[in-house]
Amino acid sequence: MVFLNGKFMPVEEARVPVLDRGFIFGDGVYELIPVYSRVPFRIDEHLARLERSLAAVRIRNPYSRAEWRDIILQLVARQPFDDQGVYFQVTRGVAKRDHAFPKDAVPTVFIMSNPLVNPPREVVERGAAAVTAVDNRWQRCDIKSISLIGNCLLRQVSADAGAVETILFRDGKLTEASASNVFVVKGGVILSPPKSNLILPGITYDVIAEIAQAGKLPLEFRDVAESEVRAADELWITSSSKEVLAIVALDGKAVGGGKPGPVFHRVYALYQEFKQKVMRAGKERQAA
Ligand SMILES: Cc1ncc(COP(=O)(O)O)c(C=O)c1O
Repeated sequence: MVFLNGKFMPVEEARVPVLDRGFIFGDGVYELIPVYSRVPFRIDEHLARLERSLAAVRIRNPYSRAEWRDIILQLVARQPFDDQGVYFQVTRGVAKRDHAFPKDAVPTVFIMSNPLVNPPREVVERGAAAVTAVDNRWQRCDIKSISLIGNCLLRQVSADAGAVETILFRDGKLTEASASNVFVVKGGVILSPPKSNLILPGITYDVIAEIAQAGKLPLEFRDVAESEVRAADELWITSSSKEVLAIVALDGKAVGGGKPGPVFHRVYALYQEFKQKVMRAGKERQAA
């Protein structure tokens, strides 16, 4: 079951006109919320980011926060599996092709939910390989835009190399990866670039910051030089689907000891605890 413009329907029946500006221009924004045991993780934070993306691209938000939440929960309830990735996108709608915004197009809303695929246990334990590339995307990477050709081209660089991610540098500094944020550990301190127009403000990135603070692990948001990434003791990527994953080889060279490090193990365990706590609270709320 998917949701399209106010109706639930089988995916085979969902149709969008070819003049939708999402199809013609990639003119829209999206979100992806992980759902564990039918409890959406950090739904408010995802909806707040959607509101910011919509405002940044001047697309009218068709629903209130409460309406979004209700539709998402209804879609989650209609799936035959418990752990889900809810993808939703809003485009500027259908209009005669013209770059300038149409006067009265109605935003198109599409939501689907697929089984959530987290990295398999062996990959979490062993760590994964990444490669690097120059970040040649536009300067509004803080908007979760459906125009992902830049990210797709960069992700393909690592796919072609048999690696899980492409870590990006702009002007000699770390930004993020093609579909994740990046953290570095050096001398026991966790480092990551501060939020700016050059990175997506990841929901998982914020969770890591909270966990680090609660666990009294030193963390600094500051510019991270490419040379610091290459000399890191540990390197991690984070995203809603990958959670936190250790990168143990970068461009074919071992990172630190070539296996997930002690700070990773600590943060990974805290992340799983945090998730369990949120899920238990969610279940109690749903039962009440
Ligand atoms: C470019 C980019 N950066 C970072 C992230 C991580 O964001 P989140 O933790 O909200 O999933 C994503 C997620 O898809 C992304 O596409």
